Amino acid sequence: MKDKTCLSLWQVAMTYNLRAPDGTVTDLEAIREVTHELRMGEFVTIIGPSGCGKSTLLEVIAGLRKASGGEVYIWDQRITGPHPSIGMVFQEESTFPWRTVMENVEFGLEVRGVPKKERQKTCQRIIEIVGLHGFENSHPNALSGGMKQRVAIARALATDPEIMLMDEPFGALDQQTRLFIGQELLRIWEETGKTILFVTHDINEAVYLSDRVLVMSHRPSVVKAVVEVDIPRPRDTSTITLERFHELTSALWETLRVESEKALGITKTEVHI
Ligand SMILES: Nc1ncnc2c1ncn2[C@@H]1O[C@H](COP(=O)(O)OP(=O)(O)O)[C@@H](O)[C@H]1O
Ligand SMILES: [Mg+2]
Repeated sequence: MKDKTCLSLWQVAMTYNLRAPDGTVTDLEAIREVTHELRMGEFVTIIGPSGCGKSTLLEVIAGLRKASGGEVYIWDQRITGPHPSIGMVFQEESTFPWRTVMENVEFGLEVRGVPKKERQKTCQRIIEIVGLHGFENSHPNALSGGMKQRVAIARALATDPEIMLMDEPFGALDQQTRLFIGQELLRIWEETGKTILFVTHDINEAVYLSDRVLVMSHRPSVVKAVVEVDIPRPRDTSTITLERFHELTSALWETLRVESEKALGITKTEVHI
């Protein structure tokens, strides 16, 4: 199945029109051009400096924001709004604090009008896949950060989307929790066969998780490099000790650091590390 294209981005571009209080409008060109294809079951990561348009791109693919140029297709259907084949896990913590774990996971199916018994059966299975069995009746405030992100992942999985978009989902977690939840995500991905488009600013996470990493330039952004990650699977937390892992993370950093310097307004002569 892996040879079948399920998501196509064709010359996607985004310019925001910023309106000042006096009514004047200035353009902010966030994304100049992104063209790429994802095949079914792939795990692809986008990495790039802060403000280069990663979240914007995911919002465009999710149909939550209209691009100013280009086209996005799922199979051969052009995306013009939210699509049932796409699930999204956001950057910020996005569980509903007033709902239990089960009620959080049920949300998408509830909106679609699936009867309670049926949706609870589906959600129970998903809760088990993400390792939250026993916490069905807990509220998010009784869970750790890592567990809350599992709830968010389970909620996105519940409607059985083909493609999962994940925008820095582990950004708020400490490094060790992040590694272990990454390992869990790989297990969930292998078990469910989803296609994942993942955004991170963490080079280690990008290499550890992905089949392929797209490096975006500073804005107006383009895809500056595409790095194939040829580390065999299954991977786990020990993957980060492999020599090949270090070669790939070093190569990525070489590409990324120039863009990060531009994003931070640092010139070469100012770097004294
Ligand atoms: N709703 C918006 N209106 C105007 N500008 C925006 C909006 N959202 C993002 N931007 C700008 O677009 C650029 C890209 O933002 P974003 O997609 O959030 O970047 P990233 O996720 O890579 O950090 C930034 O300069 C940001 O300030
Ligand atoms: Mg972002």
